Amino acid sequence: MVQDFLTGRRAEIMQLLDRRQEPARTRWHKVVLDPHIHDRTDQTPAMSIAPSIPAWSPSLEVGNAIIDADHKETVELLAEAAKASDADLPAHFTAFAQHLRDHLAREEELMHQYGFPPTPIHVHEHNRVRLELEGIAKRVAAGNLALVRGYLTEVVPEWFINHKNTMDSATAAWIRSQGG
Ligand SMILES: [Fe+2]
Ligand SMILES: [Fe+2]
Repeated sequence: MVQDFLTGRRAEIMQLLDRRQEPARTRWHKVVLDPHIHDRTDQTPAMSIAPSIPAWSPSLEVGNAIIDADHKETVELLAEAAKASDADLPAHFTAFAQHLRDHLAREEELMHQYGFPPTPIHVHEHNRVRLELEGIAKRVAAGNLALVRGYLTEVVPEWFINHKNTMDSATAAWIRSQGG
């Protein structure tokens, strides 16, 4: 039964990983991670500017107290960052990046503690996000506020919902199946 559950989830997880190949996402990665691209606003990828940050509600829970507490904080920090002035945005990004690094590390501790079988796939995705945070931090330091704002109001919210619904939900379900 656990095997059936994992097989189903693994397909979902692999589907999510494939989504990284989407053109818009690829463009973002190129800009965020390529150190040779100058910080000019005309090189910021075209993205919708409509904020898509969800308000926290129990419907967002995955059923693990540690993960849900982190996800609530993620949503709250994103909502605060979306309202920040340009002057305050760098500090909001720094606080968010620190939170997300701690959040990812706590999930990885749980995965190791409960022997979550697809741990390498989940950690691989976390490592991709860590790299993204490093790239964005450099853009903040260079004063590219448009890119940082787009990252916090569009890229992260979309990623967060997808990641929560697949890898984090699968991890929480596995922990429950192990009595955690
Ligand atoms: Fe998470
Ligand atoms: Fe995760």
